[in-house]
Amino acid sequence: MSSKKKILVTGGCGYIGSHTVVELIHNNFEVIIIDDLSNSSIQTINNIEKITGIKPLFCECDLKNKKHLDNIIRYNKNIDATIHFAAYKAVGESVKKPLTYYQNNITSLLNLLEVQSNYNIDNFIFSSSATVYGHPKKLPITEKNKTQRPFSPYGNTKKIAEEILEDIANSEKNFSCISLRYFNPIGAHESSLIGELPNGIPNNLLPYITQTAIGLREKLSVFGNDYPTPDGTPIRDYIHVVDLVKAHVKALKRQLNNQQESNFEIFNLGTGNGYSVMDVIKTFEKVASRKLNYEIVDRRNGDVPELYANANLAKEKLCWKAEKNLEDMIRSSWEWEQKARK
Ligand code: UD1
Repeated sequence: MSSKKKILVTGGCGYIGSHTVVELIHNNFEVIIIDDLSNSSIQTINNIEKITGIKPLFCECDLKNKKHLDNIIRYNKNIDATIHFAAYKAVGESVKKPLTYYQNNITSLLNLLEVQSNYNIDNFIFSSSATVYGHPKKLPITEKNKTQRPFSPYGNTKKIAEEILEDIANSEKNFSCISLRYFNPIGAHESSLIGELPNGIPNNLLPYITQTAIGLREKLSVFGNDYPTPDGTPIRDYIHVVDLVKAHVKALKRQLNNQQESNFEIFNLGTGNGYSVMDVIKTFEKVASRKLNYEIVDRRNGDVPELYANANLAKEKLCWKAEKNLEDMIRSSWEWEQKARK
């Protein structure tokens, strides 16, 4: 009989989910992936196998279909924990289609929580976002910063989800939850077999840069250079996706070893370093040895001037610290983009 702990990963074919699955397999966990493939590809499973030598079990399922989800969890007995990534995540689209975002992200979460509770699965890791801090007044941001209503419906689904999880943790003493608030994940696995492959026109800075450099987009629009920052462009805390997912495995081990200090914990996942959009462009030009075509345009609605983490709590409690620097992150994004377009 296998003594491996069994982990359900929703959204395991997606950008952060797939890197997490690789890290879980490297750490000797057994993984079951649920993904509806709405923003990911089945090929990711083969690529995870190429990296790890192990093919994780894959179930195609939309979490809004509670009956299907129930069947999967009933059939795959003795799951120890869930890591929940599956969600829609395009900020701009969520402003245009709020109902779709609330329906998908909240219904999926509620179904998952209900079904897993029926099978006594008590451990839950949630993929949250620094967007729950809204426009923060104090920097760097600690977990004690008050959350604010996020600017977008996407962001609000993350905030509401955390509130739901906290309420359940307060009422169910057996339920253990860790919510991980990501700053700006970028980069890709060193194999370049998995990475971020956004559908259509990218919303986020890094995929837009790499797609411009490879010739898929004409030029990058830099959204404003009149912010109160040293070079006028907004500052963010970019974090390598491989560093980010290592924190998930640490959080999971903390949970499975009953080391949580309360049954609802929150950790910021960032490097603590802020870089401006121009810093990112210059670093890209250096690592890719080419000029990037860009122009300064008006500010984008909802962008804040500065957002960077205080990640000391994760360092102290999870014994985790981001290790890769901005050049590492951007180089791996660029290598991934080049390989993905071959
Ligand atoms: C956004 C979301 C965050 C989400 C993250 C990843 C908010 C407030 N933030 O972060 O919740 O987790 O995406 O999906 O909802 N930029 C350009 N040109 C571009 C694209 C971006 O100049 O074409 C600039 C932006 O103005 C910003 C920086 O690059 O200053 C980073 O933008 P982006 O990658 O979209 O991430 P965030 O908006 O920080």
